[in-house]
Amino acid sequence: MGNPESILVTGGAGFIGSNWLSLMVPRFPKCQFINVDSLTYAGNLASLQHIQESENYRFHRADIRDRDSVNDVWMTYRPDTVVHFAAESHVDRSISGPIEFIETNVIGTLNLLEAFRTAGDTDRNRFHHISTDEVYGSLGDEGLFTEETRYDPSSPYSASKAASDHLVRAYHRTYGLPVTITNCSNNYGPRQFPEKLFPLMILNAMEGKSLPVYGTGTNVRDWLYVDDHCEAIWTVLTEGVSGETYNIGGNSERTNLEVVHSICRAVAEELGRPFEDLLGQITYVKDRPGHDFRYAIDASKIQADLGWSPKESFESGLKKTVQWYLQNPEWIAQVRSGEYRQWIEQNYTQR
Ligand code: NAD
Ligand code: TYD
Repeated sequence: MGNPESILVTGGAGFIGSNWLSLMVPRFPKCQFINVDSLTYAGNLASLQHIQESENYRFHRADIRDRDSVNDVWMTYRPDTVVHFAAESHVDRSISGPIEFIETNVIGTLNLLEAFRTAGDTDRNRFHHISTDEVYGSLGDEGLFTEETRYDPSSPYSASKAASDHLVRAYHRTYGLPVTITNCSNNYGPRQFPEKLFPLMILNAMEGKSLPVYGTGTNVRDWLYVDDHCEAIWTVLTEGVSGETYNIGGNSERTNLEVVHSICRAVAEELGRPFEDLLGQITYVKDRPGHDFRYAIDASKIQADLGWSPKESFESGLKKTVQWYLQNPEWIAQVRSGEYRQWIEQNYTQR
């Protein structure tokens, strides 16, 4: 597939979507980007301020759970391509309230696929679905997830993403629609909502608050800097083979405790504070139910077939991320108002 002319981007006000639009809108001025987002607690237009006046960018507020709204958006813009980021994305929230996860991640994806399928004479270049390695379940000490690994999701979040992946694949096999799927490991970087490990720990470390590690802190994640994920998505969108799935990973496995130590070191350096003081803020809290032990990705397919590999090292990506949070107090104040306090109260005070 060549470069698309008009892309309907769902969830572009969230963490990965806003970083993706920040890179792609200025880079491809001839392509129209239509950002469709309902602006849940995780969606923030402040993350897109720097591109909001661009001629090739439009924002349209709509909820993908609502079929009529999706159809309206479709008929208004008639995009040739979809890049589908929108989702409820936080595992802990899916444990305390799974229904919205099914509604947005499964029904929302179905509504988009139906609009794409019944699009009439619109050019249908590609439906690209952004997914997660969590669909594969948990690894033990050894092994890596490949594209052939059996799906075995543990949380309502990963189960809903697995269901959406199956629907996308089914629409390819049944209706012949041009689709691609990427299953990516954990991302970190600027503009991530401070409920996830990196931003929560960075902000708490900066503010002298406790650093709540679930269980013993020995769970392992494979961390990828968000810009590397964004580049991989563009590569698969334009060069990936329809019907194929590509795993994306950072080749950067770390235990949660190692991550928290690295965050403490990076914040200590930026603020000129003793590292040991920050380490003293670590507390161990009740583990997450069904907590997957280890995720690790075999990214050899995207590397060999499409020539993508991660560029950012963990240390340089972490430094950039910490500096971004230090330099953007207004963004932090905005996302932390209202609903955020309620979540912190619910998830951590009773843990
Ligand atoms: P996020 O929670 O930061 O952002 C989600 C965005 O979707 C928000 O802007 C929100 O307003 C929007 N949204 C939610 N429900 C919606 C609805 N019903 N209608 C319209 N918009 C809605 O998520 P993220 O971390 O940016 O993740 C984006 C995608 O990448 C998700 O599909 C997620 O499963 C996947 N993913 C994330 C990671 C990660 O580490 N964050 C890793 C792999 C895959
Ligand atoms: P998270 O960022 O929620 O991503 P995911 O659950 O999708 O992998 O969590 C990453 C890891 O960090 C996970 O093993 C849970 C752990 N964690 C903590 O130990 N403390 C926290 O406060 C959070 C949010 C996560």
